[in-house]
Amino acid sequence: MKRVTLFILAIFVGLLFIGASLNQPKQHPISSTQDTGFEIPQDVQEIIDNSCMGCHKSDSKNDKAKKKLMFDRLGELTKARLVGKLTEISEIVNKGDMPPKKVLDEYPDMALTNETAKIISDWADNQANSYLK
Ligand code: HEC
Repeated sequence: MKRVTLFILAIFVGLLFIGASLNQPKQHPISSTQDTGFEIPQDVQEIIDNSCMGCHKSDSKNDKAKKKLMFDRLGELTKARLVGKLTEISEIVNKGDMPPKKVLDEYPDMALTNETAKIISDWADNQANSYLK
């Protein structure tokens, strides 16, 4: 009789352990990226699609532009690097240096207006600041 009790006790304890380990939050796989919860809001994305994505996305043919910035891969960066990129984006948009002037001669519709430039730079600044808190 005693043995049976011990046996049942052992199963019971075993089940407790399994239960506890199942309740643990899933560990993130080890990788070079950290979850920054980065997402581009719709209004910003539309402007970027029109004015920037032609050059700054992972399947663009513009290698120089890709090397500096890929909007579709910003979410893979660490917070520190993301803050750096967002700061660059805000600065360059405020200066009116992007899209490049020579491209605008041919595709004037890609130009940012004061309003769309402000939407991008405000977003980039706020997003960068949120990671610095
Ligand atoms: C026609 C292609 C093209 C478009 C469109 C374009 N860029 Fe660029 N961008 C480039 C190139 C090329 C470079 C790299 C310049 C260099 O290496 O001197 C660059 C560089 C940059 C850099 C890095 C600047 C630096 O000094 O390192 C930022 C930030 C940037 N672009 C933001 C933008 C944003 C924001 C838009 C949209 C508003 C945009 N770009 C649209 C071609 C483009």
